Amino acid sequence: MELDVTMTFALSYDTGNPLKVEADALILPIRTDSSGDLIFAGSTAEANSSLKGELRQLAADARFTGKPGSRMVVPTVGRMKARRVVLTGIGSADTLDAETLRKAWGSAVTAARDAGATRIVSALPEGSSGATLEGAVQGALLGAYRFATYHGSVKNEKPATEIASLSFVDRQLEKEVVESALARGNALADAVNFARSLTHEPGGVLSPVRVGEIAKEVAKKAGLACEVFGPKELAKMGADAILTVGKGSTNPPCMIHLTYKPKGARKGNRSIGLVGKCITFDTGGYSIKPGDAMLDMKGDMAGGAAVLAAMTALKALGCPYEVHGVICAAENMISGEAFRPDDIIVGMNGVTMEILSTDAEGRLVLADGLVYTARLGVGEMIDLATLTGAKVIALGEETTALYANRDDLADNLLASAKRSGELMWRMPLTEALERQIKGELADIKNTGGRAGGSITAALFLQHFSEGLPWAHLDIAGANRTKTGSSYTPKGTTGVGVRTLLDYLTEGVNA
Ligand code: BES
Ligand code: MN
Ligand code: ZN
Repeated sequence: MELDVTMTFALSYDTGNPLKVEADALILPIRTDSSGDLIFAGSTAEANSSLKGELRQLAADARFTGKPGSRMVVPTVGRMKARRVVLTGIGSADTLDAETLRKAWGSAVTAARDAGATRIVSALPEGSSGATLEGAVQGALLGAYRFATYHGSVKNEKPATEIASLSFVDRQLEKEVVESALARGNALADAVNFARSLTHEPGGVLSPVRVGEIAKEVAKKAGLACEVFGPKELAKMGADAILTVGKGSTNPPCMIHLTYKPKGARKGNRSIGLVGKCITFDTGGYSIKPGDAMLDMKGDMAGGAAVLAAMTALKALGCPYEVHGVICAAENMISGEAFRPDDIIVGMNGVTMEILSTDAEGRLVLADGLVYTARLGVGEMIDLATLTGAKVIALGEETTALYANRDDLADNLLASAKRSGELMWRMPLTEALERQIKGELADIKNTGGRAGGSITAALFLQHFSEGLPWAHLDIAGANRTKTGSSYTPKGTTGVGVRTLLDYLTEGVNA
């Protein structure tokens, strides 16, 4: 099965007047003043005049707020070159941040598409920069994402329309600025959408070996080195934990190591390790999950997907650091070979682990991934994992739990998450809870009971951080959304990719 990874519609920028272009829909941004009144300016004012003030009237009648994410479709019934106008709110802030732009263009493009538009033209706000265009491109590409690989030939509904082209038409930006904004917006959105598609793939399609093959393919295109370690190599390096978790499946486990080296000297001599949990399906093993809890466990590889996807965009976004992406891939199944409760595993760093639950498998594969990554000589490590149901209970589905053993690392990741529009909240590595994971026959045990379950999982991982600055992102539940929002359609979210890419390119364009 070929992976459906990139958006297919044509994206362009043309110099001119957006009102003079024929289109199925014309996107017009609209600001509000500080008291919330709509401001008709630039192309939006011109369109309002073409419609003899009706646009303003209709917006008022509909109580259109102009807040980022709010939008309104107005048919123009032959009175303009575009068959519809999509008013999209950009709020009242003086400087448009990336999140506002993503929301505005994510909701505008999906509204245009859902109204049947295939050729879309968009104006830009007055005084736009390359960053404005980049944010709008991100929102449009992220919002229009669909996973259609398995839509078959049984059609219960009319086939949905797909966007053919989106053209930004405006009078101000220079060629180089435009090119860079389009390329950067594209690179980020492609990465997020790639993570979304990987996470949508069922466990029967996406085995650990398949993830390795895909990593090799994309690494070549993205200018990354890529090594895939199968069972033999894992045994040689002593990665007993990954091997143990993977034992119950006929699909063998693997560890994938991607390397990005920047052109020229690395900034601040920094080298950063990313480690992703990639359980392609989590049945729970012999500590089996009840049926309902097993649903969606194809998404237990979302941390690995985020690492792989973020790696693919580093070159395009000009990351100035050396980055190592390590993906710990296994399938947690049941068979005569599978591991059992009471088994004991020796970690690569000598820490011994007692298995209380085969369903606490993520922390086991990450233990090997973290020690392997630390030994590469990185200066800091960030792991991402759909690690615990307890995180969902503590913070809800959409918020990522952040744990870190250094405050500056935590603060920088929180700032990146905020700029990226990803919800993240720092949790404590409460030392007193160590007693809950103290082992009886081995150093530590792999579950610490129900109380503080996300914290004890993080404490477990800390035993493999090898004294390095380390952050752990528990993304359980945040890897998908049941409702969807402006630029995140219902389904998988690609969580973590935007935060990682912001963190890894911080200050590059400042
Ligand atoms: N993959 C799950 C965590 C999970 C649960 C992610 C729900 C998304 C939604 C993980 O491997 C797991 O099963 N964790 C156990 C740990 C427990 C046995 C200590 C859990 O959270 O129940
Ligand atoms: Mn599990
Ligand atoms: Zn799991």
